[in-house]
Amino acid sequence: MELKQVFANEIVKHSNELLTLLDVKKQIEIPKYNKQGDLAFPCFVLAKHVKENPANTAKKIAIKMKHPLFEQVVANGPYLNCFLNKTVVSKNVMNTILQQGSRFGSLKIGNGENITIDFSSPNIAKPFSMGHLRSTVIGNSYANILEKCGYNPVRINHLGDWGTQFGKLIAAYYYWGDDEQIEVNPIQELLNLYVNFHKEANNDQSLETEARKWFLKLEKRDVKATKLWNWFKEESLKEFKKIYDLLDVYFDSYDGEAFYNDKMDETVNILKSKGLLTKSDGADVVRLDEHDLPPCLIKKSDGATLYATRDLTAAIYRYNKYQFAKSIYVVGHEQSLHFQQVFLVLKKLGLNWAGNMQHLPFGFILKDGKKMSTRKGKVVLLEKVLEEAVMLAAEKIKDRNPNLENQSEIAKDVGIGAVIFHDLKTDRQHNVEFSLEEMLRFEGATGPYIQYTHARACSILRKSEKVMAGNIIGLEEENSWSVIKQLYNFPFNIQHCLDQGKPSILASYLLDLCREFNKYYANQQILTEDEQQEQRIALVHCTAVVIKEGLRLLGIKAPEQM
Ligand code: ARG
Repeated sequence: MELKQVFANEIVKHSNELLTLLDVKKQIEIPKYNKQGDLAFPCFVLAKHVKENPANTAKKIAIKMKHPLFEQVVANGPYLNCFLNKTVVSKNVMNTILQQGSRFGSLKIGNGENITIDFSSPNIAKPFSMGHLRSTVIGNSYANILEKCGYNPVRINHLGDWGTQFGKLIAAYYYWGDDEQIEVNPIQELLNLYVNFHKEANNDQSLETEARKWFLKLEKRDVKATKLWNWFKEESLKEFKKIYDLLDVYFDSYDGEAFYNDKMDETVNILKSKGLLTKSDGADVVRLDEHDLPPCLIKKSDGATLYATRDLTAAIYRYNKYQFAKSIYVVGHEQSLHFQQVFLVLKKLGLNWAGNMQHLPFGFILKDGKKMSTRKGKVVLLEKVLEEAVMLAAEKIKDRNPNLENQSEIAKDVGIGAVIFHDLKTDRQHNVEFSLEEMLRFEGATGPYIQYTHARACSILRKSEKVMAGNIIGLEEENSWSVIKQLYNFPFNIQHCLDQGKPSILASYLLDLCREFNKYYANQQILTEDEQQEQRIALVHCTAVVIKEGLRLLGIKAPEQM
């Protein structure tokens, strides 16, 4: 059990249950100075309940507090200071980690239930944007965390592969398209066509008409139009898959917007039969006045369906297919209104699972304080950004450790890991400032810093010939104590991450663990041969296990040397 939880339980027990467990937990503090113990509880609120001096309350409770994990609990003025039993706690946590290995921290919350998680979902024939990068790394990590908590995550890439823009693209292709160039550089060429279309359409109205005709043909499954659309899609997917390979991300489904083309009539019919559709300027909408929200657009006056119609259909399809316990969408916060509307319409349909939908929104990626967007026709290819990160990592590694084997492999792990960590360490709701320089530093709050700490632990383990006999008696030294406490708290950070939908919690946790471990390493001769040597090596081993597993959950590799 979490140390804080144990302390809280005891306080509630010995204070006649005047406060709830939650209240007590909220008030528990981590003291600044070691001499104030490991946990502290201020008795002010509790004392008020019994109309007593807080110092008296503290004294009364302190003498009753006994637990195998506590060394002692003392009253310090109005505070209860809890000193944990270092030997018992460290023995306990090290044994658990040695037994469980990478399974340490796994939680049995999910019982194998499905949770669909819609993430990445880029738009074909367009560059993979920085926003899609955020969705990809946050979604991937959260899916890993769901799995760690006992759920079965279903990873869905809801490709943006339908819409009037494909009519424009086909029209443009017939005017200016060049097959060879498209094959060499698909995303750039398709984007050029698209940009060109808009430039020319300003002077030439007939282009828009032509584009509409092509889209109509596409919707009617015209052979020529469909063939082109398929080709654009394949070329785009090839590009996207390069990025997914670099990031080592996979999906269980690539069913995108087009997949729902033949399934939307049914959705519209259900909405109609439930009397939810109303006309507004010729369009069919579901009104959401009672929620003070604009109506959800279902069908345009020309009969075309919309983004929301597809998402409603997709939600129903996913429920029927996966019977999800929860359905999650990792999409930028600019789409919050859209998801609010879609979720409310599902509720109005009376679907009993409609309360299990969740939008996990995130902020923008900024460069020099500005939104990083694809300037007209100028593509910042994400693949190039990632390759640059790997190159920079390779240079740094070569400088630091010229004789290292497998340098290119390690540079890839470090470069890509740096990009992922830089994103995930920021609370997803906040914007992220993009800086390769910053993210590739080997010290400070970076991915390389964590990977380096892990590699350092591995190197100590390589040097310690002594194989652990498994005789864990615990550690008493003050130096190791902060590391032990961090290790103990790993499972609770995972749970917290799950509850908040925030991989950043795990990222901060790993930074704290690494800082404590590096302090330990600086202050303690780990390999000195004395009676605690084996215990210290076990601690290094446990730390390496937890860092590696934490990084894995974030989607980052942990090389053993760097
Ligand atoms: N393709 C969309 C975009 O780039 C994101 C799709 C998110 N998923 C969804 N089911 N709407 O904006």
